[in-house]
Amino acid sequence: MSAAEAVEASLGTTGLNLLINNAAINSPGALETLTAEEMMTVYQTNVVGPLLVSKAFLPSLKKAAQALDLERMSCNKAAIINITSLLGSIEKSRENFRCYHLYPYRISKAALNMVTLCLSEDLKQYQILCTAIHPGWVQTDMGSTMAPLTVTYSVSSMMKVLASLSENDTGKYLDWEGKAIPW
Ligand SMILES: NC(=O)c1ccc[n+]([C@@H]2O[C@H](COP(=O)([O-])OP(=O)(O)OC[C@H]3O[C@@H](n4cnc5c(N)ncnc54)[C@H](OP(=O)(O)O)[C@@H]3O)[C@@H](O)[C@H]2O)c1
Repeated sequence: MSAAEAVEASLGTTGLNLLINNAAINSPGALETLTAEEMMTVYQTNVVGPLLVSKAFLPSLKKAAQALDLERMSCNKAAIINITSLLGSIEKSRENFRCYHLYPYRISKAALNMVTLCLSEDLKQYQILCTAIHPGWVQTDMGSTMAPLTVTYSVSSMMKVLASLSENDTGKYLDWEGKAIPW
């Protein structure tokens, strides 16, 4: 049984209110050593994965959106949150590229931002909100112990942002405090 089928069977008629696409990978990403395989592996996980997971859970999200007679879009009603990165910002890359090159990761997160925008436009008709959120530089395996933010701080901040999202935020690219990031 697929994850979507298992969730569907467990939730029944209520549907799924909130899907968070969090899983991602990074890679060495230097131009000198870059391979097609490295590019495709990161793209597959960070872009194709979230898009196909969203597609698989769409029937459950639609069900949730229909089940709740709320006028406003929200994470309580039906939403997809894509966990992105500041490194996916094309505009901000002018400032931060010299610190981290990370070609596959940057390109994948820029593409994930486009996935978010496309889904937000597509799924407005079903009242499903779709927003990209950058969690900050966080002390995880990916972020390392050098990161300034703890997991608890980043997650609790993002939870507050999620609770505040409405139709005004669908298709937006926000940070862990809810501040807009330039595309
Ligand atoms: N940490 C940061 O500073 C930072 C900054 C900006 C954005 N982000 C974003 O925040 C999100 C979480 O990152 P993190 O820092 O928690 O990274 P992490 O410590 O490397 O954890 C990544 C998680 O994704 C899972 N994952 C990777 N590939 C997968 C796959 N193909 N299928 C299923 N699960 C998979 C991993 O599972 P396994 O352990 O089982 O492999 C792991 O649980 C990511 O989207 C990342 O890009 C993180």
